[in-house]
Amino acid sequence: MPLVSMRQLLDEAAAGGYGVGAFNVNNMEQIQAVMDAASDTRSPVIIQASRGARSYTNDRFLIHLMWAATEVYPEVPVALHLDHGNEPDTCFSAIEQGFTSVMMDGSLLADGKTPSDFEYNVRVTRQVVERAHAAGVTVEGELGTLGGIEDGHGSGEVHLTDPDQAVEFVERTGIDALAVAIGTSHGAYKFTKPPDGEVLAMNLIEEIHSKLPDTHLVMHGSSSVPKELVDEINRYGGEIAPTWGVPVEEIQLGIRHGVRKINVDTDARLAMTGAIRKVFAGDKGEFDPRKYLAPARDAMKAVYVERMTQFGQAGHAGDYEPLTLEELRERYAAAV
Ligand code: G3H
Ligand code: 13P
Ligand code: ZN
Repeated sequence: MPLVSMRQLLDEAAAGGYGVGAFNVNNMEQIQAVMDAASDTRSPVIIQASRGARSYTNDRFLIHLMWAATEVYPEVPVALHLDHGNEPDTCFSAIEQGFTSVMMDGSLLADGKTPSDFEYNVRVTRQVVERAHAAGVTVEGELGTLGGIEDGHGSGEVHLTDPDQAVEFVERTGIDALAVAIGTSHGAYKFTKPPDGEVLAMNLIEEIHSKLPDTHLVMHGSSSVPKELVDEINRYGGEIAPTWGVPVEEIQLGIRHGVRKINVDTDARLAMTGAIRKVFAGDKGEFDPRKYLAPARDAMKAVYVERMTQFGQAGHAGDYEPLTLEELRERYAAAV
């Protein structure tokens, strides 16, 4: 199966009432773990690469790994998505490289840190939509800003998404999917206690979905930061301070109200780190990377299998025939 369009994956998820995990990757083991989990659970899936991942892998390695993934796992519908494109050129280069979906995050200026104004966001996002749709490529935009700056991305200022502004944003940009800010943040340190309605504004999702029933909503910063994964790291010499993530039940509530794409990176990072620390703690003389990368891959796969099951995408891989980007291009052209 070739790489498929994210638009189609999300349309199908909306029709089926489930969510699709979008998992960040930076290396072969992560891609293998996601694909293996998707194959075992018969899940359609989104693999996403940040700007950092693209420079770490040099796009060419990443794209070839993705092609290998589609060859080895022909039964898995998979979209390749650019996470947090900081300016139109970043999105355009991803499209040229073969990504089937891009995020233009115009909620921040091109430095990826300074909150932008609404008109700037509309302008850069619309620019990307025009070029992307002409190539059959899906576009995700973002309105509002997440908290947190620990991964070097974000302003640290939280601006929750305004539902009325979201309607105007979608109308003026023509995006396929909208990332909403509802109080989550990237990284492991999201909340200092289990989040309640005061810090996690799930009601906003409901309101935005009722105003924009045909726009796929995206939750960023959606790692759950399971205590077992943090404990495993700390058991073997790590020092992760007590922290809470987004409870899976809240994500499931979001899925019932229009969330179709759920971004998860941190949980896999935690799983990988714990597994590697365990090997190192057990055999201090170990120096064959395969001996710690294989358990790391297994640990990540277990996280992906769990999330694919919880988000509801499991079992839906064979539901539909993937459209080509050319078919998507024609569909976008007909809709204008
Ligand atoms: O945007 C946040 C993702 O977790 C990607 O993080 O920029 O460190 O690759 P990164
Ligand atoms: P987490 O840090 O919660 O995994 O969020 C990842 C994300 O939103 C990537 O865009
Ligand atoms: Zn994000």
